[in-house]
Amino acid sequence: MTSLISQTPAWQALEQHRQEMQDVAMRDLFASDPGRADRMRLSVAGLRLDYSKNLATPQTLALLLDLSDTADLSGWIARMFAGEPINNTEERAVLHVALRNRSNRPIQVDGQDVMPGVNRVLERLESFVGLVRSGAWKGFQGQSIRDVVNIGIGGSNLGPKMVCTALGAYGSNDLRVHFVSNVDGTHLLETLNDLDPARTLFIVASKTFTTQETMTNATSARDWLLAAARDPAAVAKHFVAVSTNAEKVSAFGIDTRNMFGFWDWVGGRYSLWSAIGLPIALAVGYERFVELLEGAFAMDEHFRTAPPAENMPVVLGLLGVWYANFWGARTHAVLPYDQYLRLLPAYLQQGDMESNGKGVTRDGVVVDYTTGPVVWGEPGTDGQHAFYQLIHQGTQLIPADFIGAIKSHNELGDHHLKLMANFFAQTEALMRGRTTEEALAEMLSAGVPKERAQFLAHHRTFPGNRPTNSILMERLTPFTLGALIALYEHRIFVQGVLWGINSFDQWGVELGKQLAGVILEELRVGRVGGDHDASTRTLLNDFIQGRRA
Ligand code: F6P
Repeated sequence: MTSLISQTPAWQALEQHRQEMQDVAMRDLFASDPGRADRMRLSVAGLRLDYSKNLATPQTLALLLDLSDTADLSGWIARMFAGEPINNTEERAVLHVALRNRSNRPIQVDGQDVMPGVNRVLERLESFVGLVRSGAWKGFQGQSIRDVVNIGIGGSNLGPKMVCTALGAYGSNDLRVHFVSNVDGTHLLETLNDLDPARTLFIVASKTFTTQETMTNATSARDWLLAAARDPAAVAKHFVAVSTNAEKVSAFGIDTRNMFGFWDWVGGRYSLWSAIGLPIALAVGYERFVELLEGAFAMDEHFRTAPPAENMPVVLGLLGVWYANFWGARTHAVLPYDQYLRLLPAYLQQGDMESNGKGVTRDGVVVDYTTGPVVWGEPGTDGQHAFYQLIHQGTQLIPADFIGAIKSHNELGDHHLKLMANFFAQTEALMRGRTTEEALAEMLSAGVPKERAQFLAHHRTFPGNRPTNSILMERLTPFTLGALIALYEHRIFVQGVLWGINSFDQWGVELGKQLAGVILEELRVGRVGGDHDASTRTLLNDFIQGRRA
């Protein structure tokens, strides 16, 4: 599609429909349609989605489906699964789905089936994980490994870290997994403080093996090891690499026999299913890692084959477009009512914002509509006591996903009932709101004097009509987690397709990196070059002088 989607009749029909929806109240939609909740539910791969608390009628969904036809969504889904180079600016296929293709259905890239390679790496992971977890892998003093430190950033950190945290109930204290990402030396030093070099294994995880933060941390970690081991041969026992770049891995001094590869058709933020997931498999065992892949595969199969109107990632993606482009929503809240999922919002920030934070279409045309939202969130119930006020009564529309489990891994008294009572109460309150009349009546019946009650009634009015999706699973397991992550990945893709953008490149991170390289040299020599604006020059000079003092 060379023209903008905003110029199409399907888009204009939605603009028109948005006007008609202006005064529609969700509570009335429920009152007038007893079948609404039943109709607006989907159940896939252990996830149950209730999307009935949205500002949407059957007509809204029909019009959004028209828009997806206009964008040829089904064609793009088919092209992704077929291994076509849909990442057009990098001329790459986008095949994280191949990494969890448990059917082994051949997937071709440039005429070659990628599945044998995927399976070979999985086999190597399985045997390495077995060695480390059984204690057969020995460090330089002949002891087993007790701590694993993953050194990586962005997609080489956020995914495995989030999953290791989410599967905390499946880990054990015998093997502790840590993550170091920030180039701030504090991160590495604080992590290494309590660790024994003789029992620590480092995973240097970097798709490119050139990322400044990761290489700096890996070099300092190697120094830390060698200061204790006093023998370069120790590196082979304490360092493994996960990368697509064998040359750089061996230049760093890691034997490529200790390297687990992946491929340029795996985007960094979609890579936790590849060897980048090694820390996950070490933390919870290879079998659990495979269950994670199976959950994602179940969602993939659904996404690939289910009709659009019953397709969970499609429905969620369409609703996201509805709010971003027709209701002016600028952010999207992810609110897990599960402490184990506390890192999910941070993980999805990269997943969504690096994917859909684009201002030109695939063909390079500047868009005249909103693309990716700011994604944010905190686990419930903490968030309720921090920012929910604005979601309830603020002036912005903030669509939110509530995610929870029916059974907890930690059934402690009535904690879980209280947690989930809040989940259900919040979604109900956000939808229903409280009218001024209701607020007034409530206060009067509680004995508040009439004048005071009239004054407070506006403050105690909740407009309601705040959209939420409720995602429930029986229990947070590797399988349901895999399905949940894949659900979000595909939803991001759906939105990218509708906006006509390439969700799989990330040129926007380059400029800062380049400038940092120039500035680093200036900081090293203590002299600022001419090519800076006055503000930056002053800041740099202050910093240099401060370091000298
Ligand atoms: O932030 C930019 C980025 O390229 C991400 O897309 C990627 O996940 C991260 O840097 C780390 O890259 P690498 O795995 O190559 O070290």
